[in-house]
Amino acid sequence: MDAIECIRTRKSIRGFKPDPVSTEILKKVIEAAQWSPSYKNSQPWEIIVLSGGKKEGLTQILIDLFGRDTPPCPDIPEPGSWPDRENKHIADLYRKRAKVSGIDLGDPEVLKKAKIANFNFYRAPHVIYLFQEASLPLWSLFDLGLFAQSLMLSAHAHGLGTVPQAFATDYARDIKKFLGIPETKRLVLGISIGYPDPESPANSFRTDRAEMGDIARWVE
Ligand SMILES: Cc1cc2nc3c(=O)[nH]c(=O)nc-3n(C[C@H](O)[C@H](O)[C@H](O)COP(=O)(O)O)c2cc1C
Repeated sequence: MDAIECIRTRKSIRGFKPDPVSTEILKKVIEAAQWSPSYKNSQPWEIIVLSGGKKEGLTQILIDLFGRDTPPCPDIPEPGSWPDRENKHIADLYRKRAKVSGIDLGDPEVLKKAKIANFNFYRAPHVIYLFQEASLPLWSLFDLGLFAQSLMLSAHAHGLGTVPQAFATDYARDIKKFLGIPETKRLVLGISIGYPDPESPANSFRTDRAEMGDIARWVE
């Protein structure tokens, strides 16, 4: 698949086959992502690839915390409100998803189930946690985003599925403690990764994008 096809056909995968991905393939995916650009080539990204019993252990911790109504405390706070433009895109997504799959993310009960599915990493065999030193500038967060996209595209090119998950960082302190990540680091994102399950209804959903006229102006 060429680069354009890879970018255009990647989508978030929320249903995985249980089969683990070989370490050899995971290493190839990660190695390619390391070629992402970064401010002054600072490469401000660190990752942990979590699998097997340890991953199950973390899921249990997250579900226990959630079950006890522990308030989420991610290192990057969940946005409270959005400007009108972005809010409209989010509302469009919620509306389309409710129509196509009956899943209404505006419903608190549905959101609760969605959180648990996130903490289960959508049953993916692996989750990759992305983090960096918290004292790094805002540019480094930008760079980590570039790395995340490269990782997901590289995974897609290898026939793997991924989903980036801010929710997977909800209990950042506990996650960092469990994974031995120092307190000085900020936990930015979890990316579940594995082979997509083509039978999963969650994977039949495709998000839309705005018309180009809504995002671009041509100035001469
Ligand atoms: C920074 C970031 C955080 C996200 N957090 C979550 C999440 O917690 N759970 C989830 O299921 N999807 C999450 N997503 C996936 C988005 O919902 C998804 O990328 C968006 O709807 C566009 O769909 P697509 O990835 O299929 O193109 C996140 C995406 C990004 C970039």
